[in-house]
Amino acid sequence: MKLWGGRFQKETDNLVNELNASISFDQRLYKEDITGSMAHAKMLGDCGIISKEDVAAITEGLQGILADVEAGKVEFTADNEDIHMNVEALLTARIGDAGKRLHTARSRNDQVALDFRMYVREQIPVMVDQLLHLESVLCKQAKQYQTAVMPGYTHLQRAQPISFAQHLMAYANMFARDVTRLEDCAKRLNECPLGSGALAGTTYPIDRWQTAKALEFDAPMSNSLDGVSDRDYALELMSALSILMMHLSRFSEEVILWCSWEFKFIELDDAYATGSSIMPQKKNPDVAELVRGKTGRVYGDLMSLLTVMKGLPLAYNKDMQEDKEPVFDAIDTVEMCLPVFAAMIDTMTVRTDNMRKAAGKGFINATDCADYLTKKGMPFRDAYTVTGHLVAACTAQGKTLEELGLDELKAVSGLFDQDVYEAINLENCMALRASYGGPAVSETTRQIEAIEAFVTAHTK
Ligand code: ARG
Repeated sequence: MKLWGGRFQKETDNLVNELNASISFDQRLYKEDITGSMAHAKMLGDCGIISKEDVAAITEGLQGILADVEAGKVEFTADNEDIHMNVEALLTARIGDAGKRLHTARSRNDQVALDFRMYVREQIPVMVDQLLHLESVLCKQAKQYQTAVMPGYTHLQRAQPISFAQHLMAYANMFARDVTRLEDCAKRLNECPLGSGALAGTTYPIDRWQTAKALEFDAPMSNSLDGVSDRDYALELMSALSILMMHLSRFSEEVILWCSWEFKFIELDDAYATGSSIMPQKKNPDVAELVRGKTGRVYGDLMSLLTVMKGLPLAYNKDMQEDKEPVFDAIDTVEMCLPVFAAMIDTMTVRTDNMRKAAGKGFINATDCADYLTKKGMPFRDAYTVTGHLVAACTAQGKTLEELGLDELKAVSGLFDQDVYEAINLENCMALRASYGGPAVSETTRQIEAIEAFVTAHTK
């Protein structure tokens, strides 16, 4: 008979059992479930709600179950629906009546709210550590390429000279915000729902502060309906993970472009690339493509839970059992993508020669040419037009700006002098962009140091 079978006269239909059971996926909450139950039992004993002997038997029984689950000796069953009833049934089978007292002053509603929250809380530092490792890899790579000139793009059109270090550190700054978003989420979720009961608290003299403290929460959740109904921490987590995946996906897109013969800015290590079954010459950036592709499923996970929650009246509804799979999937996906992405970046070969060559074409020093005239007294808008004419002339002749002779330059403006060649030299154009946040070496050094300090400050 079911744990809740008392008021039923018929067996549950098999199809209903299949629909209802969540043990296939919520068994991953076994440790949180057992830890929560131990804290609950101890509190019941301390508050005089169950006897100390029962507490001892429950604690010992749960410890045994935990050890057996970890040793692979326990078979969970769909007959007991979910992880909560599986553990309770196992306990009662092992210790008898004391096991039946564990659920006093508790409901599966606050129990699952607790387990799930603890699971999310444990996974956040794992992903933060992975992000911090990626940050270290980016800093390490950036340090080597602070003077490597590459074209910076807008509209995927060559725009202005930057360094490869500057490009990498742009992502490092995004990932730093991803870290703080996850940390924020961890801070906000750290209130304990246990003791909310089914929805309306309990008439037993429980001590919610005791269980909250024992389970390392900052406080019990203030409202029992909210305690069993809130899933915004899971949504917040998946929002943060969606943004993180969006960053990884943009970066992946660039890695894919940079690996192409059209760019060849980088080459991936053989261990982080794959071949084709038919085309012998191929070396494909599958890692980056899969990371880009998996971004879609993390967005989907977020959308799925947002949609589950949007119409639910307070308090608990069984719909909420659908919260776990998307969250598990989003966490699993991110935890799989981050380390492999970091390793791919760590081991790539950077072709600075090709970056420099690309920088040489596309007039990415045209702004500097206009700035040169502006600094000599021509209004910027006029300087812009003059330079535009020069670019058109160069395009017609298949030349770069620096290949124009001084006489050709002087023909469009008397302000041009020999020093223009210094001013439009690509290395100088990059090096002189020393405004705060710019690509000059002094600035990329500052950025790298800032991210390194960030990594130290956020490493636990
Ligand atoms: N397996 C359920 C879930 O994940 C546990 C809570 C069940 N509560 C209930 N009232 N049926 O949501």
